[in-house]
Amino acid sequence: MKAVVVSTFAPFDQIAVGELPDPVPGKGEVVIDVKAAEVNYPDILVISGQYQMKPPLPFAPGKAAAGIVSAVGEGVTSLAVGDRVSAQVEYGAFAQKLRAPAVNVYRMPDGLDFAKAAALGLVYQTAHFALIERARMQKGDRVLVLGASGGIGVASVQLAKALGAATVVAGVLGEANAEVARRCGADAVIDLGAIDLRDGVREAVRAATDGHGADVVIDPVGGAANAAALRAIAWRGRMVIIGFAAGETPTIKANYLLVKNIEVSGLQWSDYRDRTPDWVRRVQDEIFSLHVAGKLDPVISRRFPLEGFKEGLGLLRDGKAQGKLILEVA
Ligand SMILES: NC(=O)c1ccc[n+]([C@@H]2O[C@H](COP(=O)([O-])OP(=O)(O)OC[C@H]3O[C@@H](n4cnc5c(N)ncnc54)[C@H](OP(=O)(O)O)[C@@H]3O)[C@@H](O)[C@H]2O)c1
Repeated sequence: MKAVVVSTFAPFDQIAVGELPDPVPGKGEVVIDVKAAEVNYPDILVISGQYQMKPPLPFAPGKAAAGIVSAVGEGVTSLAVGDRVSAQVEYGAFAQKLRAPAVNVYRMPDGLDFAKAAALGLVYQTAHFALIERARMQKGDRVLVLGASGGIGVASVQLAKALGAATVVAGVLGEANAEVARRCGADAVIDLGAIDLRDGVREAVRAATDGHGADVVIDPVGGAANAAALRAIAWRGRMVIIGFAAGETPTIKANYLLVKNIEVSGLQWSDYRDRTPDWVRRVQDEIFSLHVAGKLDPVISRRFPLEGFKEGLGLLRDGKAQGKLILEVA
C-alpha cells in the first residue's frame, strides 16, 4: 500500500511517500481503507522521534483517520466489512490502509463525509476531556481559550459553547485568526499580539465577563500567554495545560494558586484513549451527535492529497494553520 514511510526518525521534510506491506488485522483489530486523515502537531514529533512513544521502524505516522472497514480480525463482533468509521490510533493513519484496535474505531453518523469525521476526532476529543473531565466545566462558566484559531482552540471554543458556557473568550494572534474564533462562536476575542500581555489578558477577560474572570482556561499554547492567562482566572478557576505551541514550557507561580484557590491540571488525551476506550467512545458519540445537531462543525482550512503531508505539517510547524488540515487518501 501507499503510505508516508518513516524508515529513520528525521525531520518531516526528509520523509517521503513510499510503499509499506498491506496490514492484516490481528485478534481484536480491524483494517480500514483510509479516505481521510487528520494532520496534527504531534505528528511532527512522532516522525522526528521526539514524541514520548516511538513506533517500530518503518512505520506510517498519523493519529486519526476515517474510512471504510475492509477486514475484520478474530473476535471482533462490533464492526463489519463495509462499515463507515473513524479511528484514533498511536500511528499509521497516513496510509491507504490502517490497522486499528476495534475498541478505538467508531461508527460515523450517516451522511457525514470522511474529512469531517476525521476532523471531529483527536482535537475535539482532547477539547472535551479538557473542558469536562479535567476542568469540570459547568453550564454558565466563563471560559478562556488560548490558541483559539488552531486545532485544539477551535474545538474548545465550539465545544464550550455547545456544552453551555456562558461566555467564551478567545485568545488569538492577528485579525484573520480573530475572525476564525468569532465564526466558531467566541463571544469576545483578545489579540494576544496587540496588547501588553501581563495585564491586558486579565483586563480583557474581566471586561468580557462582567468583572468575574475565567472559571476555565484551556491552554494549548504555553509561553508568556500562560502566565497572563493565570492572572485572568476567577476564584476557584481551573486551568488545563494541553500543549506548548508557543515553543516554551511555562513555569506556574504557586502563589497564584494559593491566593485564588486555583487548580492547574494537565491533559494527555491518548492515555484516556488507551486506558478508558469505552469512555472515549461515549464522548465520540456525543461529538458526532453535537455535529449532527448543528452545534459544532470542524473548520477544515486546507485539504491535501497524501503527498501533501509535508505542506500540511509545514503549516503547523510555522504556526500558519487555521482549524484543521486533512489528507484525502485515494
Ligand atoms: N495534551 C494532549 O493530549 C494534546 C492533544 C493534541 C495536541 N496537543 C498539543 O497541543 C498543542 C496545540 O495543538 P493544535 O493542534 O491546536 O496546534 P495548532 O493548530 O498549530 O494551533 C496552535 C495555536 O497556538 C497559537 N500560538 C502559537 N504560538 C503562540 C504564541 N506565542 N502566543 C499565542 N498563541 C500562539 C497559534 O496561533 P498562530 O496560528 O497565529 O501561530 C495557533 O492558534 C500542540 O503543542 C500539540 O502537540 C496536545
